[in-house]
Amino acid sequence: MSGAVAGEPLLSTGASVSINGAAQVLRWPPGQMSLRHDSIADVTLEPGGVTLERDTIARWEHDRDAPLQVDASGCAVIPGFVDCHTHLPFAGWRAEEYERKVTGVPYEEIARAGGGIAASARALAAATDEQVLAQAQGLAGEMLQHGTTAFEGKTGYGLSRDGEARAARLGRALGERIGRPMTLTGLFAHAVPAGMTADEWMVEADALARECDVDALDIFVESVAFTNDHLARMGEIAAATGRPLRAHVEQFASHRSVPVALAHGARSVDHLSCLHRDDVAPLAAAECGAVLLPGAELLGGEHTPPARALLDAGALCVLATDFNPGTSPIASMPVIIGLAVRRYGWTVREALVAATVNGAWVLGLSEQLGSLEPGMRADVLLLDGPVEQIPYRFGHNPVAAVFVAGELAWVRPDQAWRLA
Ligand code: NIG
Ligand code: FE
Repeated sequence: MSGAVAGEPLLSTGASVSINGAAQVLRWPPGQMSLRHDSIADVTLEPGGVTLERDTIARWEHDRDAPLQVDASGCAVIPGFVDCHTHLPFAGWRAEEYERKVTGVPYEEIARAGGGIAASARALAAATDEQVLAQAQGLAGEMLQHGTTAFEGKTGYGLSRDGEARAARLGRALGERIGRPMTLTGLFAHAVPAGMTADEWMVEADALARECDVDALDIFVESVAFTNDHLARMGEIAAATGRPLRAHVEQFASHRSVPVALAHGARSVDHLSCLHRDDVAPLAAAECGAVLLPGAELLGGEHTPPARALLDAGALCVLATDFNPGTSPIASMPVIIGLAVRRYGWTVREALVAATVNGAWVLGLSEQLGSLEPGMRADVLLLDGPVEQIPYRFGHNPVAAVFVAGELAWVRPDQAWRLA
């Protein structure tokens, strides 16, 4: 079983897999690269089967001749979760900081006192490459067991020119080790290194964006980090280097960063806890993901974003863990879905769309994965009950088995009897 965590399949099925007699199969009409409010009505959860052939979803029906038969009675079959916002790889944890936070010390104060991102930067600098990769690989395995079959990682804890370049190399090395789809975002403007101004650091961030092998660029706009002017500059760098722009915005306070990000064609705006009400309609009308991170909201005591209003207005709503050692040490997408349903007043279907196809859209992967559509990559989850139980049995891991590119990558020991 450790093979699955390390990136090797648990069972190489080689040919085809027939998933039989599921109580629910999560489907939407073919050809949808993202789903907004008006198309969520077309999402169905009918009983049925799914056949995987080699690395691809072949048919929405079972195949009694397939070499591997899966008894899915009572189960839901859904696409693997796509976690489009994590901060892997990082080094160590910051549990002591969490205690200070819950007993009343604000994040900004912790950050100004040398904690926060700077603390994780010191931990990263002190760790060897192998230590960083071993921790991240273990965490990617934990994510897999909770159903995450594709994810994004970021730089951002390097906090120096060399440190960020190393973080980018480590991010790519992690992707190679885990053998599942992983994209890498250059969050070169995450915190201002000690002894520099934000303007001075932006010169370095600009150079890093041009030098490093990353798929997207990101920036943290906040009183303790960068400004809307820096966001506009990052937008120009993204355009010049042909990378999508992403942005951490409106997390602790409203800075009206969303109009700036939209003006620069951002692929996503992430957090949005303090989104200004006037920015809901423009964001909903844009080709831009509204990436909501309820784990960081809960553990950071943040405001709740206007998530119901965003969804009803037609925004491309997305859920992710924000997995990081500071604000959200949460690996589990089922936990994130449970939080979103409770905090946002979303249905389970709305949350599942946000956690699969819409996450894949943010990463530019939704033509290959994120849906159970025939022809898509066979990243498939078997849940141990109907999808309505994901938020209801909050904290329970509902993932019974995980197929990655058609190979069995994880099966929960108590569910192994389903495979024959
Ligand atoms: O997404 N907000 C900025 N960055 C991270 C937190 C990073 C940290 O505290 O280590 C976030 O919440
Ligand atoms: Fe983040």
